[in-house]
Amino acid sequence: MTNYAVILAAGKGTRMKSDLPKVLHKVAGISMLEHVFRSVAAIAPEKTVTVVGHKAELVEQVLAGQTEFVRQTEQLGTGHAVMMAEPVLEGLAGQTLVIAGDTPLITGESLKNLIDFHVNHKNVATILTAEAENPFGYGRIVRNQQEEVIKIVEQKDASDFEKQIKEINTGTYIFDNARLFEALKNINTNNAQGEYYITDVIGIFRENGEKVGAYTLKDFDESLGVNDRVALATAEGIMRRRINQAHMVNGVSFVNPETTYIDVDVHIEPEVQIEANVTLKGQTKIGAGSVLTNGTYIVDSVIGEQTVITNSMIEESTVADGVTVGPYAHVRPDSSLAKNVHVGNFVEVKGSSIGENTKAGHLTYIGNSEVGANVNFGAGTITVNYDGQHKFKTVIGNNVFVGSNSTIIAPVELGDNSLVGAGSTITKDVPADAIALGRGRQINKEEYAKRLPHHPDNK
Ligand code: UD1
Ligand code: CA
Repeated sequence: MTNYAVILAAGKGTRMKSDLPKVLHKVAGISMLEHVFRSVAAIAPEKTVTVVGHKAELVEQVLAGQTEFVRQTEQLGTGHAVMMAEPVLEGLAGQTLVIAGDTPLITGESLKNLIDFHVNHKNVATILTAEAENPFGYGRIVRNQQEEVIKIVEQKDASDFEKQIKEINTGTYIFDNARLFEALKNINTNNAQGEYYITDVIGIFRENGEKVGAYTLKDFDESLGVNDRVALATAEGIMRRRINQAHMVNGVSFVNPETTYIDVDVHIEPEVQIEANVTLKGQTKIGAGSVLTNGTYIVDSVIGEQTVITNSMIEESTVADGVTVGPYAHVRPDSSLAKNVHVGNFVEVKGSSIGENTKAGHLTYIGNSEVGANVNFGAGTITVNYDGQHKFKTVIGNNVFVGSNSTIIAPVELGDNSLVGAGSTITKDVPADAIALGRGRQINKEEYAKRLPHHPDNK
């Protein structure tokens, strides 16, 4: 049987109090809509239709090229939203998953179970439900004395008796596709919110004597619908715990997973050790055996094997095997550190490539530079890359030794094996094998200090 999917993502999400459409708010690094879309992929739909409306262009960008879009220009309710998919899906044989874009925790596994249940029971409609400790705000599943589902009633329309029901509607359903669009022609807006409810088709099927069922999630957490920022933070917490658990199962050690923040697309190899308060964001990869200490923050970067990153920030850069970074180093975008490089205390690297075994241990700024292998930067070296208007490049060969507190004013080139004397200001290229001294000569005035008040002779 052919599967189809409809994702509802047209709403504004008033309760978020946000300029951003609700479904674009992120959970563990990607939007709620992308989470839903990835779970939906597990049932391999032949067509996926995403219903967009509020700030449609913005929402479409996120899934561009991956789904068909239909527009719901006025948000008249979830039932009305599904009707918008009619031109794409009406009359097709198969079954259709309908899912809300604000339920980011529902897994692909659960959607597969739901569809199997639906097919095995030969239902016309199957609702994904969950048992909620606090069902407030959700639609309730109303069953008759034979425990059969007879309808869904919304919070705002529920009687006091119905409000006691703990089984809730997750907003996810499987429908016989053709019957779905027929039933939608019969829903109306006679309810507390004056909206077309998708949930009303359940009652319509029942009245027609058609078979309706419910598949209940084992884990309530999955069903969480994010309507406000409190629920958004709850979803974030649940998602992070899931992510960290998966890494632990794969052989990654955490000192305190409760304070470790790892985005969903981060890849970590086994035997990595992660201390507390570490954040790994975006498309980051961490190689086997690396150690990330307390306070490390890495964004969109590829880190090699056996590295040690100590309380440092790395952004949009690549770090090869055996590199040590920090404490308190900042590797800024477009940098690459080759094997066994060391960047230490209070070192900043930006838009630079640094060759194997090169070391900058202390208080150094390396910007827009191409640095060779086995270079040693003394403490306090600055590449001066900016004249207030333009950026200039520094090129440093292999085996160069830069003495402490040197200022290297770009554009400039230091040849292989050259040496810069400590305290130099370098404005001209240094040939290979040369020593460059760019500082005032020292003068000693013998006995002169005796004339000054600080001297013991004058006390
Ligand atoms: C809905 C269900 C409720 C269920 C809950 C689960 C209905 C009537 N109620 O309520 O039974 O317990 O989800 O989380 O369906 N949307 C549109 N167009 C619209 C209205 C909504 O695309 O005109 C989209 C929203 O962007 C959102 C989703 O549909 O992604 C759900 O809408 P929302 O208003 O959050 O529904 P709930 O009140 O949570
Ligand atoms: Ca909702």
